[in-house]
Parts: sequence; structure tokens; C-alpha cells
Amino acid sequence: MNILILGSGGREHSLAWAIKQNPKCDRLIVAPGNAGIAAIAECADIDILDGDIVAQFAVENAVDFVVIGPEAPLAAGVADRCRAAGLLVFGPSQAAAELESSKSFTKTICDAADAPTAAYARFTQAEPARAYIRTHGAPIVVKADGLAAGKGVIVAMTDAEALAAIDDMFGGEFGKAGAEVVIEEFMEGEEASFFVLVDGTTLLTLGTAQDHKRVGDGDTGPNTGGMGAYSPAPVMTEAVTNKALTEIIAPTMAEMVRRGTPFQGILFAGLMIKDGQPRLVEYNVRFGDPECQTLMMRLGGQVLDLLQACAEGRLADITVHWADDHAISVVMAAQGYPGSYAKGSEIKGLEALPEDSMNMVFHAGTREVDGRITANGGRVLGVTARGATLAEARDRAYQMVDAIDWPEGFCRRDIGWRAL
Ligand code: AMP
Ligand code: GLY
Repeated sequence: MNILILGSGGREHSLAWAIKQNPKCDRLIVAPGNAGIAAIAECADIDILDGDIVAQFAVENAVDFVVIGPEAPLAAGVADRCRAAGLLVFGPSQAAAELESSKSFTKTICDAADAPTAAYARFTQAEPARAYIRTHGAPIVVKADGLAAGKGVIVAMTDAEALAAIDDMFGGEFGKAGAEVVIEEFMEGEEASFFVLVDGTTLLTLGTAQDHKRVGDGDTGPNTGGMGAYSPAPVMTEAVTNKALTEIIAPTMAEMVRRGTPFQGILFAGLMIKDGQPRLVEYNVRFGDPECQTLMMRLGGQVLDLLQACAEGRLADITVHWADDHAISVVMAAQGYPGSYAKGSEIKGLEALPEDSMNMVFHAGTREVDGRITANGGRVLGVTARGATLAEARDRAYQMVDAIDWPEGFCRRDIGWRAL
């Protein structure tokens, strides 16, 4: 089977690493990829936001299966374009990707499905939004409707912060994404990431994880794309998992079918759990990054069979084989991230690290320059390990972190603290 993965982050490196282990994988191409991915797959420098280019490339290269990693190509309709060209694709249509690309749309679906989520109101003008904030008061959450690379959500602890967010969003800080704003009740509780494969009608629970969004130890400092994750998430007990499936995910997926836009791909539900009751924070229509790295470390080569069954509408016939294990991924980022940071510093010591079923350094933002690995993004490496316990996985991961010689980088030292 010839497989094309779209994307260039740690998520896609881990997907490539797991898929490559499956004997059905003959040829693996990742577009555009990164320096780590280039060590295990062919990389192709094409514009992955252009569906025509992707479809043409896939046909010319006799690709049998296209796996779409990030949200941007999904929101741009690349899956639809590839399907129209007769390709087998893992990832939702543009219409179903609205579950991530429009927060307002997701609220409408949750209303129709009666799924537990934060109370909210939506606005296209600043003055009524300000009035709503004054009436309801902080803490309160202000969200740009559209995709804003994880930066469009302001969890305001004071009215002043919330009002400033309104000024920024209607002032054009997020462009079109901020033309509509959703203001939400602040939900308390513990967050978890829940991953469910959906082939339109059948749901298959893939796994759970917990991310660490804040940049600093002890969950301090600004929000990031995620500084580390572990799987499974102990807060996702069987009871909470069943509630999330029956009260939130199944009814919203049924509503998508009812509307004629069934969802096919991986549904990533961000949940807030309090007193055993999950509520939806948001949907994403792709794997989380770095949550994916921990899931791939635990699932290995069977991932290809799962993604293929999902794309072919055969989830009812397949099961996920879990080991009783734990995985953790520690993100190493360039100093300054999530603010401005420098690119180009050299990362040494990677070649001496183990790469096996227990240890793997996934590359997120790297570039090879004259045989050296250099930093080429904010989040640069996902140092990932597996173990019989979370503590064992954590110790392995930080052992690798400590062996990496990269003074221009940093990481959180407390990934997994909640579960440990
Ligand atoms: P989102 O992009 O919607 O996942 O939001 C980013 C982060 O903001 C989430 O992971 C939560 O930590 C936080 N957040 C979003 N909405 C709420 C809410 N209604 N209540 C509390 N925290 C929230
Ligand atoms: N780690 C959170 C995300 O991928 O959205």
C-alpha cells in the first residue's frame, strides 16, 4: 500500500512512525514533512492547502491512501478534493470539519443534540458583547469563531481582560476568524482529551490523553499548542468515558448524519470533567499534538488498519488492541515560545538516543542543514516514552531530554504531574 500523510509536525512524525511498522505499508510519503520524518519516509514539498495539487500528486504517485494530519487542509476541503479524484482518504469533509473551524457551528450542533457544554452567546458586534460581559462578569471565556492557531481563546479572569479580548477580536487581530465571537461560561474541572474514530455512523473509542497547555511548570504562563501529554488519562474512568460517548459524542455525530454531513476521521473531544460529569469544551477534527505522539507510541502498527477501516466505513468489524501501558511526550520548544523565538540553533546528541518501542524522539519543527539538525519552529521535539507505569515512562522521557544538547531550547519538567 502506498500512503501519503499530510503535515509536518510531531503528530505526523508519530503517525508515520506507527504506520511504517505495519507490513501493509509499502511506500510512505509525507508532505511536507520535517528532518525527523525524512529519516523514515520520503518527503514531498507540495502545498498541502491546495486540494488540486494534493490530489494530482497522489494520483501521479499511485497513492492508495491519504491521511490528513492537521486541521488547515481539512478546513480547506482537501479531503473532498482527494475523494472526488477517487482516492481513499482519512479525514473529514470540509462541511464536517466545521466542528473545529467554527466554534459557533459546534454550539449549534450541541444545542440540537442536547449535549452538555458551556452556556454561551454569539456576537458579530462589539457593543452587545461588552454588555454581555458586564452582565455575566468574569471569569468568562471569549473565543474567536474561526481557526486561529490555538490563539483565539481568551480565558478571562477579570472583566477588563474579557473586554480587551473583545476589542482585539473586533479590531481584526484574528482577521476573518474573529468576525464572529462566542462568549462562554467559564467551566471548572479537569480537562481531558478523548479520541474517537468515526466512519460516519460507527464510533470506536481510540483512547484518552491529557495535555499541558500552559508554557510553565505548575500550569503557569501563557497558553501554547501543548507542552506535553500522557496517555491514558486517569480522569477518563469507564463511567466518564461512557457518559461522554452517550451524552456528547454519539448525539453530535447523529446530528451530523441528520444534516447530510456525516463525520469521517478522528474526533478529538476536549472535555471538562467535574464531579464525574463531562462537558464539551471543543471539538477538533484531527489528532491532538502532542497527544497523538502518546497514542501512536501505545498503538504501534495497528494504527494503519484502524485508519483504513475508518476510511472504508468498516469500523463495526474492527477492535483496538490495547496493552496495559502508559506513554508520555515531553515537548522541547525554542526559548521565547509561545512568543517570538529564533530559528536555526543546532540540536546535538539526538543520534545517541535509543529509538525503539519504548523510546522515540518525534520531530515537530526541525530542519536538516549540512547534516546537522536545527530548530525550525516553536515546538521543536516531542521526546516520547512508554512504560508499564506512567512514572517509568516519565523517567525514560526525561532521561532522553537530559541527554539532548540544545541550550537554546527548554521544556516543562512536570509533565504528568496530575496523574503522578
Ligand atoms: P479551545 O481552543 O476551545 O480548546 O480552548 C483552549 C483552552 O481554553 C481549553 O483547552 C481550556 O483550557 C480553555 N477553555 C476553553 N473554553 C473554556 C471554558 N468554557 N471554560 C473553561 N476553560 C475553557
Ligand atoms: N494539543 C492540543 C491540540 O492539538 O489542539
